Amino acid sequence: MSKELLSWYDNNKRSLPWRRDKDPYKIWISEIMLQQTQVTTVIDYFNRFISRYPTVEALANGTEEDVFKLWEGLGYYSRAKNLIRCAYQIVNEHKGVFPKDVEALKQLPGIGPYTAGAIASIAFDLPEPAVDGNVLRVISRLNCLSEPINENKHQMLYKQKTIELMSERPSDFTQAMMELGAMICTPKSPRCSNCPLSERCCSFKQQTQLNYPVKIKK
Ligand code: ADE
Repeated sequence: MSKELLSWYDNNKRSLPWRRDKDPYKIWISEIMLQQTQVTTVIDYFNRFISRYPTVEALANGTEEDVFKLWEGLGYYSRAKNLIRCAYQIVNEHKGVFPKDVEALKQLPGIGPYTAGAIASIAFDLPEPAVDGNVLRVISRLNCLSEPINENKHQMLYKQKTIELMSERPSDFTQAMMELGAMICTPKSPRCSNCPLSERCCSFKQQTQLNYPVKIKK
């Protein structure tokens, strides 16, 4: 199944500034921005940020005031605050080099399981899952999973199902899943006729795509 997904990605991926190289610093900045904001908006913010702070060393020496200015409009200023703290720790505790394993990444300020998985897989090609809202939607539809995606007790299930799909090329796999969620397996009108996984998709077979993902009201 991941073969179909990867060849679809090869042929359809958008050219995005954080896909030009696999610098973990750039992957990290892009993922933090993308957690709260759409790709089209992030592009300009990302380019401005990287021009001003091209490396983790540069960011570690930045001021909160300046970083907040670059962040203006993205919201969630605690994230911007954590950026400098994280950069500072990478420079001072990791010799300026991003740690290459998820557990160490998760110890850093502002880096949770999702961001750690995204950096580990996208930048380092490690077989680590990065499960965001897009991926939850794809996985739940693919497998007809009715376990609510917003309940903590089911996180392991969705992570496990994502790992099962991932075979080779973890970096492209993670980005392919996000791309599929953004371009094809969209919340309201999924484009199943263009989906590389439709033949293996449980909810497509049942024509129940819009029943997934299930969320409980909290
Ligand atoms: N959403 C979250 N991470 C993304 C990425 N790396 N590319 C596109 N969309 C995303």
